[in-house]
Amino acid sequence: MLIVKDVKKTFFPGSVNEKKALQGVDLTLEDGDFVTVIGSNGAGKSTLLNAIAGVFPVDQGSIEIDGVDITNMPEHERARYIGRVFQDPMKGTAANMMIEENLAMASRRGRRLGLSWSSKPEMDARFREMLRELDLGLEDRMTAHVGLLSGGQRQAVTLLMATLVRPHLLLLDEHTAALDPKTAEKVLGLTVRLVETHRLTTLMITHNMRDALRFGNRLIMMHAGRIVVDVRGEEKKSLTVPDLLALFEKGAGELSDQMVLS
Ligand SMILES: Nc1ncnc2c1ncn2[C@@H]1O[C@H](COP(=O)(O)OP(=O)(O)OP(=O)(O)O)[C@@H](O)[C@H]1O
Ligand SMILES: [Mg+2]
Repeated sequence: MLIVKDVKKTFFPGSVNEKKALQGVDLTLEDGDFVTVIGSNGAGKSTLLNAIAGVFPVDQGSIEIDGVDITNMPEHERARYIGRVFQDPMKGTAANMMIEENLAMASRRGRRLGLSWSSKPEMDARFREMLRELDLGLEDRMTAHVGLLSGGQRQAVTLLMATLVRPHLLLLDEHTAALDPKTAEKVLGLTVRLVETHRLTTLMITHNMRDALRFGNRLIMMHAGRIVVDVRGEEKKSLTVPDLLALFEKGAGELSDQMVLS
């Protein structure tokens, strides 16, 4: 369970560049909630995920994951609880390490002893199986350096790494936006499979309204540093893109071109 209470964040306070990125965000996620997050450019979506991940301290409010107050916990310690995948395929994996080395590293995340394998062959066999399930032809390239992979392959490996040790929370920030449509669809499919199989509590930012409606059990819309729409369950299922645009106009009073086009 994630509890975000009255979180505020202003960048460059008191200067001409002052930007109130989060203006009091309250959000509670139940275990297994798969929440899609939409909103215009600069609405504060990434800032919210970054605040939860501990990229910077917040000015006010608190953040709790599964009963642990992480508000003042450094980012590297929060990584024990949180899996993340960013828009940029270059982030999240170590380019000059092999696929199997990246996976082995991820399997040790947040555990003093890591996942236990009785032997390296057993570990390799597990990794090979996971990679086979991706259906991207990576199972025979375990010793290839990650830097040689395509963006989509790299995002898929990053997703595996982020979920290898079950995270308490999975944060996805437009993780398919840099991929071609076909690859994006594949990585989205993998995402849904992982999230649903492991019932991962997930926040997924997307600029694509159809994806926001198609995936997850709940949808939130942000505008000017606030959550302006929060729909779930049957109500979410019955929503259409025009409904969403109407809600957006009501909540925000303006539209982002990017959202209209996607
Ligand atoms: N590290 C930072 N330093 C200064 N300003 C920032 C920083 N991160 C975000 N901002 C500002 O905070 C506001 C919210 O940005 P944020 O990145 O959260 O928006 P977003 O909803 O993710 O938008 P997009 O859809 O374009 O990704 C913007 O005005 C942005 O310029
Ligand atoms: Mg963003």
